[in-house]
Amino acid sequence: MEIRSTGRPVPYIIGTREFMSLPFAVDERVMIPRPETEILVEYLVKKFSTTETRKRGNEGTSQGDERPTTNDEHQLVLVDVGTGSGCIAVSLAHYLPQARVYATDISAAALEIAARNAQHHNVADRVVLLEGDLLSPLPHHLDGQVQAVASNPPYVPVSQALDLAREIRDFEPAEAVFSPGEGTVMHGRLIEEAPRWLCAGGMLAMEIAAGQAEPVRNRVAQDNRYDRVCSLSDLAGIERVVVAWRRHATG
Ligand SMILES: C[S@@+](CC[C@H](N)C(=O)[O-])C[C@H]1O[C@@H](n2cnc3c(N)ncnc32)[C@H](O)[C@@H]1O
Repeated sequence: MEIRSTGRPVPYIIGTREFMSLPFAVDERVMIPRPETEILVEYLVKKFSTTETRKRGNEGTSQGDERPTTNDEHQLVLVDVGTGSGCIAVSLAHYLPQARVYATDISAAALEIAARNAQHHNVADRVVLLEGDLLSPLPHHLDGQVQAVASNPPYVPVSQALDLAREIRDFEPAEAVFSPGEGTVMHGRLIEEAPRWLCAGGMLAMEIAAGQAEPVRNRVAQDNRYDRVCSLSDLAGIERVVVAWRRHATG
Protein backbone atom coordinates (compact mmCIF):
# COMPACT_ATOMS: atom_id res chain seq x y z
CA MET A 1 0.00 0.00 0.00
CA GLU A 2 2.80 2.35 0.93
CA ILE A 3 4.54 1.71 -2.41
CA ARG A 4 1.29 2.22 -4.34
CA SER A 5 0.74 5.63 -2.71
CA THR A 6 3.80 6.96 -4.55
CA GLY A 7 1.78 6.67 -7.76
CA ARG A 8 4.03 3.96 -9.18
CA PRO A 9 1.98 2.01 -11.72
CA VAL A 10 0.96 -1.48 -10.60
CA PRO A 11 2.69 -3.31 -13.51
CA TYR A 12 6.01 -1.78 -12.43
CA ILE A 13 5.36 -2.91 -8.85
CA ILE A 14 4.45 -6.48 -9.77
CA GLY A 15 6.88 -6.55 -12.72
CA THR A 16 4.48 -7.87 -15.33
CA ARG A 17 1.65 -6.85 -17.65
CA GLU A 18 -0.56 -8.99 -19.87
CA PHE A 19 -0.69 -8.17 -23.58
CA MET A 20 -2.36 -10.29 -26.28
CA SER A 21 -3.04 -12.86 -23.51
CA LEU A 22 0.69 -13.23 -22.84
CA PRO A 23 2.57 -12.04 -19.74
CA PHE A 24 5.31 -9.46 -20.38
CA ALA A 25 8.03 -8.51 -17.91
CA VAL A 26 8.14 -4.73 -17.44
CA ASP A 27 10.03 -2.23 -15.35
CA GLU A 28 10.66 1.51 -15.52
CA ARG A 29 12.97 1.08 -18.52
CA VAL A 30 10.00 0.33 -20.80
CA MET A 31 6.52 1.64 -21.47
CA ILE A 32 3.73 -0.50 -20.00
CA PRO A 33 1.93 -2.23 -22.92
CA ARG A 34 -1.52 -0.75 -23.54
CA PRO A 35 -4.74 -2.48 -24.67
CA GLU A 36 -5.04 -0.04 -27.64
CA THR A 37 -1.86 -1.51 -29.09
CA GLU A 38 -3.57 -4.90 -29.33
CA ILE A 39 -5.70 -3.44 -32.17
CA LEU A 40 -2.57 -3.10 -34.30
CA VAL A 41 -1.23 -6.57 -33.42
CA GLU A 42 -4.58 -8.30 -33.89
CA TYR A 43 -4.90 -6.71 -37.32
CA LEU A 44 -1.49 -7.97 -38.45
CA VAL A 45 -2.04 -11.44 -36.99
CA LYS A 46 -5.34 -11.67 -38.85
CA LYS A 47 -3.79 -10.43 -42.10
CA PHE A 48 -0.88 -12.84 -42.01
CA SER A 49 -2.41 -15.82 -40.30
CA THR A 50 -2.28 -18.91 -42.48
CA THR A 51 -5.22 -20.58 -40.77
CA GLU A 52 -7.65 -17.65 -40.69
CA THR A 53 -9.74 -16.81 -43.69
CA ARG A 54 -8.75 -13.40 -44.93
CA LYS A 55 -11.74 -11.47 -43.73
CA ARG A 56 -11.67 -7.69 -43.62
CA GLY A 57 -11.12 -5.98 -40.28
CA ASN A 58 -12.90 -2.81 -39.15
CA GLU A 59 -10.84 -0.74 -41.54
CA GLY A 60 -12.12 2.41 -43.21
CA THR A 61 -11.24 3.05 -46.83
CA SER A 62 -9.01 0.13 -47.73
CA GLN A 63 -9.88 -2.13 -50.63
CA GLY A 64 -6.91 -4.38 -49.96
CA ASP A 65 -7.11 -7.94 -48.84
CA GLU A 66 -4.06 -9.12 -50.71
CA ARG A 67 -1.25 -10.56 -48.70
CA PRO A 68 2.02 -8.96 -49.76
CA THR A 69 4.70 -11.40 -50.86
CA THR A 70 8.45 -11.19 -51.25
CA ASN A 71 10.99 -13.38 -52.97
CA ASP A 72 10.87 -15.78 -50.03
CA GLU A 73 7.31 -17.11 -49.94
CA HIS A 74 7.95 -19.19 -46.84
CA GLN A 75 9.27 -16.51 -44.59
CA LEU A 76 7.20 -13.65 -43.31
CA VAL A 77 9.46 -10.70 -42.51
CA LEU A 78 8.01 -8.16 -40.11
CA VAL A 79 9.52 -5.13 -38.36
CA ASP A 80 8.55 -3.53 -35.05
CA VAL A 81 9.97 -0.03 -34.58
CA GLY A 82 10.34 1.16 -30.97
CA THR A 83 9.81 -2.27 -29.47
CA GLY A 84 10.12 -1.32 -25.77
CA SER A 85 9.13 -4.42 -23.77
CA GLY A 86 8.92 -6.30 -27.08
CA CYS A 87 5.17 -6.73 -26.68
CA ILE A 88 4.41 -6.17 -30.39
CA ALA A 89 7.38 -8.13 -31.79
CA VAL A 90 7.05 -11.06 -29.38
CA SER A 91 3.27 -11.33 -29.84
CA LEU A 92 3.66 -11.30 -33.62
CA ALA A 93 6.30 -14.03 -33.44
CA HIS A 94 4.17 -16.05 -31.01
CA TYR A 95 0.96 -15.91 -33.06
CA LEU A 96 2.64 -16.07 -36.48
CA PRO A 97 5.07 -19.01 -36.32
CA GLN A 98 6.19 -18.39 -39.91
CA ALA A 99 7.37 -14.86 -39.05
CA ARG A 100 10.82 -13.48 -38.39
CA VAL A 101 10.49 -10.14 -36.60
CA TYR A 102 13.17 -7.44 -36.58
CA ALA A 103 12.61 -5.16 -33.59
CA THR A 104 14.43 -1.87 -33.11
CA ASP A 105 14.71 0.57 -30.23
CA ILE A 106 16.84 3.60 -29.47
CA SER A 107 17.06 2.40 -25.85
CA ALA A 108 19.57 -0.35 -25.05
CA ALA A 109 17.90 -0.75 -21.65
CA ALA A 110 14.52 -1.43 -23.29
CA LEU A 111 16.08 -4.03 -25.57
CA GLU A 112 17.31 -5.95 -22.51
CA ILE A 113 13.69 -6.34 -21.37
CA ALA A 114 12.55 -7.22 -24.89
CA ALA A 115 15.24 -9.94 -25.02
CA ARG A 116 14.01 -11.37 -21.73
CA ASN A 117 10.43 -11.45 -23.02
CA ALA A 118 11.45 -13.05 -26.31
CA GLN A 119 13.28 -15.77 -24.40
CA HIS A 120 10.41 -16.32 -21.99
CA HIS A 121 8.01 -16.88 -24.87
CA ASN A 122 10.45 -19.10 -26.79
CA VAL A 123 10.68 -16.84 -29.84
CA ALA A 124 14.21 -15.48 -29.32
CA ASP A 125 15.37 -17.39 -32.43
CA ARG A 126 12.86 -15.43 -34.58
CA VAL A 127 12.98 -11.98 -32.93
CA VAL A 128 16.05 -10.01 -33.94
CA LEU A 129 16.68 -7.08 -31.58
CA LEU A 130 18.57 -4.10 -32.97
CA GLU A 131 19.60 -0.88 -31.26
CA GLY A 132 19.28 2.39 -33.18
CA ASP A 133 17.11 5.08 -34.67
CA LEU A 134 13.83 3.88 -36.25
CA LEU A 135 14.60 1.66 -39.26
CA SER A 136 18.28 2.53 -39.60
CA PRO A 137 19.64 -0.58 -37.79
CA LEU A 138 17.95 -2.99 -40.27
CA PRO A 139 20.35 -5.10 -42.34
CA HIS A 140 20.59 -4.01 -46.00
CA HIS A 141 19.48 -7.39 -47.32
CA LEU A 142 15.96 -6.54 -46.08
CA ASP A 143 15.62 -3.77 -48.69
CA GLY A 144 12.21 -4.28 -50.33
CA GLN A 145 11.71 -7.56 -48.43
CA VAL A 146 9.54 -6.55 -45.45
CA GLN A 147 5.82 -7.41 -45.51
CA ALA A 148 4.89 -5.11 -42.63
CA VAL A 149 6.44 -2.39 -40.53
CA ALA A 150 4.55 -1.96 -37.25
CA SER A 151 5.16 0.78 -34.75
CA ASN A 152 3.76 2.33 -31.63
CA PRO A 153 6.01 5.39 -31.69
CA PRO A 154 6.17 8.07 -29.01
CA TYR A 155 3.35 10.47 -29.90
CA VAL A 156 2.68 12.86 -27.03
CA PRO A 157 4.02 16.38 -27.73
CA VAL A 158 6.25 17.64 -24.92
CA SER A 159 3.96 20.67 -24.68
CA GLN A 160 1.22 18.33 -23.37
CA ALA A 161 3.34 16.85 -20.57
CA LEU A 162 1.40 18.61 -17.84
CA ASP A 163 -1.89 17.19 -19.15
CA LEU A 164 -0.66 13.62 -18.70
CA ALA A 165 -1.56 11.43 -15.73
CA ARG A 166 1.16 11.56 -13.09
CA GLU A 167 1.64 7.79 -13.35
CA ILE A 168 2.75 8.21 -16.94
CA ARG A 169 4.67 11.48 -16.62
CA ASP A 170 6.63 10.51 -13.52
CA PHE A 171 7.28 6.82 -14.14
CA GLU A 172 7.25 5.84 -17.81
CA PRO A 173 10.41 6.53 -19.86
CA ALA A 174 10.26 9.97 -21.49
CA GLU A 175 11.73 8.67 -24.77
CA ALA A 176 8.83 6.19 -24.96
CA VAL A 177 6.12 8.76 -24.35
CA PHE A 178 7.17 12.07 -25.87
CA SER A 179 7.56 12.87 -29.53
CA PRO A 180 10.02 15.56 -30.52
CA GLY A 181 8.11 18.62 -31.77
CA GLU A 182 4.57 17.85 -32.82
CA GLY A 183 2.96 14.53 -31.87
CA THR A 184 3.15 13.09 -35.38
CA VAL A 185 6.84 13.75 -36.11
CA MET A 186 7.77 10.09 -35.66
CA HIS A 187 4.88 8.97 -37.88
CA GLY A 188 6.13 11.35 -40.58
CA ARG A 189 9.62 9.90 -40.35
CA LEU A 190 8.25 6.35 -40.57
CA ILE A 191 6.13 7.26 -43.62
CA GLU A 192 9.26 8.70 -45.22
CA GLU A 193 11.62 5.83 -44.38
CA ALA A 194 9.46 2.68 -44.57
CA PRO A 195 9.02 2.41 -48.39
CA ARG A 196 12.68 1.49 -48.89
CA TRP A 197 12.16 -1.62 -46.77
CA LEU A 198 8.60 -2.62 -47.72
CA CYS A 199 7.87 -5.08 -50.53
CA ALA A 200 5.18 -4.12 -53.06
CA GLY A 201 1.86 -4.31 -51.22
CA GLY A 202 3.66 -4.31 -47.87
CA MET A 203 2.07 -2.32 -45.10
CA LEU A 204 3.05 0.30 -42.59
CA ALA A 205 0.84 0.13 -39.48
CA MET A 206 1.28 2.88 -36.89
CA GLU A 207 -0.49 3.50 -33.62
CA ILE A 208 -1.70 7.09 -33.21
CA ALA A 209 -3.19 9.22 -30.46
CA ALA A 210 -6.80 10.39 -30.61
CA GLY A 211 -6.99 13.23 -33.13
CA GLN A 212 -3.85 12.28 -35.07
CA ALA A 213 -5.50 10.10 -37.75
CA GLU A 214 -6.30 12.88 -40.17
CA PRO A 215 -2.85 14.53 -40.27
CA VAL A 216 -1.16 11.12 -40.52
CA ARG A 217 -3.49 9.93 -43.32
CA ASN A 218 -2.93 13.23 -45.14
CA ARG A 219 0.83 12.80 -44.85
CA VAL A 220 0.55 9.33 -46.43
CA ALA A 221 -1.69 10.68 -49.21
CA GLN A 222 1.05 13.15 -50.22
CA ASP A 223 3.52 10.31 -50.81
CA ASN A 224 3.01 8.48 -54.10
CA ARG A 225 5.01 5.47 -52.92
CA TYR A 226 1.85 4.43 -51.08
CA ASP A 227 -1.40 3.65 -52.87
CA ARG A 228 -3.86 3.11 -50.05
CA VAL A 229 -4.42 4.23 -46.50
CA CYS A 230 -7.00 3.36 -43.85
CA SER A 231 -7.50 3.64 -40.12
CA LEU A 232 -8.60 1.16 -37.47
CA SER A 233 -10.84 2.26 -34.62
CA ASP A 234 -11.36 1.02 -31.09
CA LEU A 235 -14.75 -0.01 -29.71
CA ALA A 236 -15.51 3.62 -28.81
CA GLY A 237 -14.99 4.62 -32.46
CA ILE A 238 -11.68 6.41 -31.79
CA GLU A 239 -9.14 5.94 -34.56
CA ARG A 240 -6.09 4.21 -33.04
CA VAL A 241 -4.06 2.89 -35.97
CA VAL A 242 -3.25 4.16 -39.46
CA VAL A 243 -2.32 1.55 -42.09
CA ALA A 244 -0.72 2.48 -45.42
CA TRP A 245 0.15 0.12 -48.29
CA ARG A 246 3.31 0.29 -50.40
CA ARG A 247 2.37 0.82 -54.04
CA HIS A 248 2.84 -2.07 -56.48
CA ALA A 249 5.14 -1.30 -59.38
CA THR A 250 3.19 -0.28 -62.49
CA GLY A 251 3.75 -0.97 -66.17
C1 LIG B 1 5.35 4.26 -27.13
S1 LIG B 1 6.74 3.23 -26.74
C2 LIG B 1 6.19 1.68 -27.42
C3 LIG B 1 6.78 0.49 -26.77
C4 LIG B 1 6.13 -0.83 -27.20
N1 LIG B 1 6.28 -1.04 -28.62
C5 LIG B 1 4.66 -0.83 -26.85
O1 LIG B 1 3.82 -0.75 -27.76
O2 LIG B 1 4.33 -0.92 -25.65
C6 LIG B 1 7.91 3.84 -27.94
C7 LIG B 1 9.25 3.13 -27.98
O3 LIG B 1 10.03 3.73 -29.03
C8 LIG B 1 11.36 3.89 -28.61
N2 LIG B 1 11.92 4.99 -29.40
C9 LIG B 1 11.83 6.32 -29.21
N3 LIG B 1 12.47 6.99 -30.17
C10 LIG B 1 12.98 6.05 -31.01
C11 LIG B 1 13.74 6.13 -32.21
N4 LIG B 1 14.11 7.30 -32.75
N5 LIG B 1 14.10 4.97 -32.80
C12 LIG B 1 13.75 3.77 -32.27
N6 LIG B 1 13.02 3.64 -31.14
C13 LIG B 1 12.64 4.77 -30.52
C14 LIG B 1 11.27 4.15 -27.11
O4 LIG B 1 12.48 3.84 -26.47
C15 LIG B 1 10.11 3.24 -26.72
O5 LIG B 1 10.57 1.96 -26.35
